[in-house]
Amino acid sequence: MLVLGIETTCDETAASVVHRGADGVGDIRSNVVYSQIAEHKEFGGVVPEIAARAHVEVLDQVISKALIDAQVRLSDCEAIAAAAGPGLIGGVIVGLTEAKAIALAAKKKFVAVNHLEAHALSVRLIGRVDFPYLLLLASGGHTQLVLVEDIGRYRKIGGTVDDAIGEAFDKAGKMLGLGYPGGPAVEQRALEGDPQRFDLPRPMFGRAEPDFSLSGLKTALRIEAEAIAPLSEQDVSDLCASFQAAVIDVIADRTRVALRKLRDTVYKPTAFVVAGGVAANQAIRLMLESETARLDTPLIVPPQALCTDNGAMIAWAAAERLARGMEDTLDFAPRPRWPLAEEKQSA
Ligand code: KG4
Ligand code: ZN
Repeated sequence: MLVLGIETTCDETAASVVHRGADGVGDIRSNVVYSQIAEHKEFGGVVPEIAARAHVEVLDQVISKALIDAQVRLSDCEAIAAAAGPGLIGGVIVGLTEAKAIALAAKKKFVAVNHLEAHALSVRLIGRVDFPYLLLLASGGHTQLVLVEDIGRYRKIGGTVDDAIGEAFDKAGKMLGLGYPGGPAVEQRALEGDPQRFDLPRPMFGRAEPDFSLSGLKTALRIEAEAIAPLSEQDVSDLCASFQAAVIDVIADRTRVALRKLRDTVYKPTAFVVAGGVAANQAIRLMLESETARLDTPLIVPPQALCTDNGAMIAWAAAERLARGMEDTLDFAPRPRWPLAEEKQSA
């Protein structure tokens, strides 16, 4: 089965053609991502109105390229899928409407995909991973620990009470004059810094529930930075290293708590999976490798192109749903808010 997937919920305009064999094996035939980072850079973050316009401008070309790269025609596809949320409403409407129009014109099935479900299932696109597995989704917009029990069955184990982890990196980067997005820049500068120079808080560390809180850490970083301003290059590197060390300690502790909580239950995860842009961080990965090894749980980090927002994960989630006989009708409304744990109504 070939599925065309469209992603427009944030600042990536993406389309992809994915194949799913009868044996459940996935194959990415094309994966086109147009990143809008350049459009948003001067504003230090994603501007919803600019994002929506940019999606309108490039989506047709992105879809055409996805079909050409995959060497397929629309008529070869079984279904057209789009992320119907959660995300920035303007962008969601652009992708969802386009997918519905194509499905209607080409007489194809249509699937409205939950963007978070797509992140949750993307790991199964590259290899066999049995349910249930524990997912850490850490991006600019989301920070959640989710037990993936089956297609359409998700149990939220923990989440952030304020900022997402990627968002905290972005705010730290902006505060220290490192531009947008902050994550890669902060990680880079942390390599040259002293992680022990600033004693930053580890919010939620030791709590019994595996939740996150990042905003206090961000405030503490600002206070330290203001206290020693003007900042030298070394100061910036040391602040980055200290900030990242605090985030790593928090993620390590929250992961331990979540895995220990599930370990002796029927929900014992077969693996710990990380998705979202933050998964690109090598220091975080290294820590997770040792933490999960100590708890006897295999760590799986999908390739970077699948961790960040992309169309392949949308097409794949749709293919997994279609294989279970689930599809949607063309009156499916966009959902700016769409928690993963809440099941959607399928036709
Ligand atoms: O999944 P993603 O591409 O987009 C969404 O937010 O949906 O994630 C982007 C986020 C940004 O907040 C970015 O700063 C963060 O992931 N990020 C990183 C790194 N690379 C990207 N955070 C920490 N370290 C990195 N190396
Ligand atoms: Zn995402």
